[in-house]
Amino acid sequence: MAIYAIWNNKGGVGKSYLTFQVASEYAQQNPDKRVLVIDLCPQANSSSMLLGGMINGENALTALHGTVPRTSIAGYIDDRIVSPYQNPRTGARYLTRLSGTNNALPANLYLIAGDEQLELQSSRVRAATERGPDEAWRLVHMWIRDLIADVADAWAGTEYTVFIDCNPSFSIYTELALSASDRLIIPFSADGSSKRAVRSVLALAYGVSRQPGQAQSEFFLGTLRHQMNRPKIYMYVGNRLTQSYYSSAAAFKTVVGEIGDEIYDVWRANPNEFSIHPAGSPLPTNKKTFKAMFQKEVGDANTASVVSSTLGTPICRMTSGTKMVLGKGVVVNQSQLDKQAPNIRDVVSAIE
Ligand SMILES: Nc1ncnc2c1ncn2[C@@H]1O[C@H](COP(=O)(O)OP(=O)(O)OP(=O)(O)O)[C@@H](O)[C@H]1O
Ligand SMILES: [Mg+2]
Repeated sequence: MAIYAIWNNKGGVGKSYLTFQVASEYAQQNPDKRVLVIDLCPQANSSSMLLGGMINGENALTALHGTVPRTSIAGYIDDRIVSPYQNPRTGARYLTRLSGTNNALPANLYLIAGDEQLELQSSRVRAATERGPDEAWRLVHMWIRDLIADVADAWAGTEYTVFIDCNPSFSIYTELALSASDRLIIPFSADGSSKRAVRSVLALAYGVSRQPGQAQSEFFLGTLRHQMNRPKIYMYVGNRLTQSYYSSAAAFKTVVGEIGDEIYDVWRANPNEFSIHPAGSPLPTNKKTFKAMFQKEVGDANTASVVSSTLGTPICRMTSGTKMVLGKGVVVNQSQLDKQAPNIRDVVSAIE
C-alpha cells in the first residue's frame, strides 16, 4: 500500500517520463494489485503519455477536461475548495482506467489526470491553509491523502500502489503531494546544476540547511508543527545517462558520485528520513552499501524513448522495428531498448 512521490525541484530531469515507465511496468509485474498514478503537475505530461501519447493521449486528456466536473485532479480540487475542512469523499469519481484508452497498458493501471487548471486553483488552495480552523493547514495538506483513501475505499480491500508525479516548483500542490506520500523518489540528470537541485530538495522537504541560520521552508516547519508525515527518501535515480557515463570516468560520473555523497551525509545525520528496503534489510553501514540500497541509474534510450513517449508505449513493452510516429516510419533498435528497459525493471524490482 505504498505511496511514492516522484519529485525534484529541477525541471526536465525525467519525473514524468519515469512515472510513466515505472508505473506501467510495476502494474504489468503486479497484476494482483491496482496501481494509481496521480498527476499533480499542471503540464500533465505523464497523463499524456499514459493516455496514449502525443495524439491519442492529448485527445483523451482534452475529453477528460471537457466533462462536468472535469475528470482530473482539478475536478477533485474544486470539490475541496468548496469544502476545504470537511472531506466530501468524492475522490473515486475522478479515476480513469488507462486500458480503456491505451491498449499498451495493463488493466490494473489507473490515473487521476493532470490539469492546467491546477495553476489557477493554487492561490485558493494556499488561502484555505491560512484561514479557517486551527487545523486548516493540516487538513488542507491531507487532501491528496483523502483522495487516495476514497480510491482505496472504492477498491475495497484490493492491494494498491500509488505514484504521484510532481511539478518541479515547490508549489502548494507539491506540498500536498509530499504530505500524501510515504516515500520519495528523486530523479536527477547528471549535469552541472543537479547537485544544487538535490540540495534544494533536501532543504525544502527535510529542512537540511547548509549554513547556520538558513531559514527552513514553511512546509518543513508545518510538518513539524502539525506532527505530519514527510515522505521517506526511498531512491535517487541518475536519469538519462549516456554511453559515455558507462564507458568512462567522465564528468557525469563525478556528478552522480557527488550527489550520492551529498545524500549519504544526510543519511548519516538523519537516518529516520530514509526508507530501508527491501523490508527487513540491515541498515547500510558504509557508503557502498548505502548506494547499493538507494541509488539507481537509468540510461538514455535515444529514439526509443521519443517513440515510447510519443506513442504512449512503455519502453519495457516495446519491440524493435519500424514504428509509425506522427505519420513517419521511425526505426527502434534493440540496442536502444537494451540501454533502458533493464534499468526500468531494476527500479521496479526495488519498489515494494
Ligand atoms: N531516460 C531517458 N531517456 C531518454 N529521454 C528521457 C529520459 N528521461 C526523460 N527523457 C526525456 O526528457 C524530457 C524531460 O523529461 P520529463 O518531462 O519526464 O521531465 P520532468 O522532470 O517531468 O520535467 P518537468 O520538471 O517539466 O515536469 C522529455 O522529453 C523526456 O521524454
Ligand atoms: Mg514533469
